[in-house]
Amino acid sequence: MSEIVSLKDPARPLDQRGRALHDLRISVMDRCNFRCAYCMPKETFGEGYRFLSSAERLSFDEITRLTSLFVSLGVRKLRLTGGEPLLRAGLPELIGDLAALPGIEDVALTTNGVLLPRHAADLKAQGLGRVTVSLDSLDPDVFHRMSGGFGSPDEVLAGIDASLAAGLGPVKVNCVVQRGVNDHTVLDLVERFRGTPVIVRMIEYMDVGNRNHWDRERVVSARTLHDQIHAKWQLRQIAPAYPGEVAERYAYADGSGEVGFIASVSQPFCGGCTRARLSSEGVLYTCLFASHGIDLRAPLRAGASDAEMLERIRGTWLARNDRYSEMRTDHPTAPERKIEMYYIGG
Ligand code: GTP
Ligand code: 5AD
Ligand code: SF4
Ligand code: SF4
Repeated sequence: MSEIVSLKDPARPLDQRGRALHDLRISVMDRCNFRCAYCMPKETFGEGYRFLSSAERLSFDEITRLTSLFVSLGVRKLRLTGGEPLLRAGLPELIGDLAALPGIEDVALTTNGVLLPRHAADLKAQGLGRVTVSLDSLDPDVFHRMSGGFGSPDEVLAGIDASLAAGLGPVKVNCVVQRGVNDHTVLDLVERFRGTPVIVRMIEYMDVGNRNHWDRERVVSARTLHDQIHAKWQLRQIAPAYPGEVAERYAYADGSGEVGFIASVSQPFCGGCTRARLSSEGVLYTCLFASHGIDLRAPLRAGASDAEMLERIRGTWLARNDRYSEMRTDHPTAPERKIEMYYIGG
């Protein structure tokens, strides 16, 4: 109801497709301690790869200032991403500043989980609401193959346990499914979290970036995954937790919790996409598959006023017309250059 009222508010811009700005996903770190082949393949992101320097990354003050401007345009929900956001020194401090912004209702973090045992309690104390942990398989060999040889299922499970103990719930687990790579381990993963408060979400493998050698043949559809799970443990669909939710939610009929499916390839959800993305160097993207973004760092560092910055952001949102995933379905030819997932987060 409040959403309907606020859409009439002139301070809240609607894009070319009538979508409000509601979520801001902030990448705080382009580096990662994993090398997942679907995101940062080792052959590209090796020793010699040039990541951003700390001066190139937005400072915490810059991130907080920009975020407060986004809040005045309607953002209520924040997600911190990477690369691996927990590699950014002092992250809990930034979370404290962001969580304290009036208007912010939800602050979440996407992480590969291995640094959570060290940081979960502090993150919670500073105001983080919840975490989403990437975990593609519980089979150590499959996990290693997918992570580029870094981390282990046990380390990620320890991170999940630490998050639960710290009260960073609901904890969600993101599993990107690739045919012939980890699809045979999906049921084990789901079984591990049945009967716990952890919500596993199966994600269709997407063609993000240009470097992950995406191949449609490797996509396992959410429908197939649903049917596989449903054949073993009966599922029934439940209502979205909020309008435009990315995951389709299902409950186990026997009351053992919930699983989700993110069908971004087979059933795109651009129509309800209220997400803006800010890279760690301060470039604003209006789509995960954008080929270019709007630099906010340069004007910020050149001394632009809040009003000037606000106009830049508002103008970008008003002009937004993105619907890449829907277009991929209609016209399956990708733009030549897309941003990479490690750079913009999930
Ligand atoms: P909550 O419902 O707030 O917990 O978040 P969420 O469902 O958006 O989950 P999360 O942020 O973990 O996103 C899960 C995955 O969905 C991402 O890693 C992406 O693979 C995919 N995804 C999220 N947002 C988008 C989007 O805007 N477009 C596309 N194509 N995929 C997305
Ligand atoms: N397809 C789908 N999801 C992806 N992620 C990264 N790369 C891809 C991809 N190619 C998502 C995963 C991971 C998060 C950081 O980004 O959910 O957990
Ligand atoms: Fe790192 Fe996540 Fe990308 Fe894997 S998917 S390389 S954990 S940012
Ligand atoms: Fe939003 Fe772009 Fe994803 Fe569509 S493809 S849901 S417009 S981020």
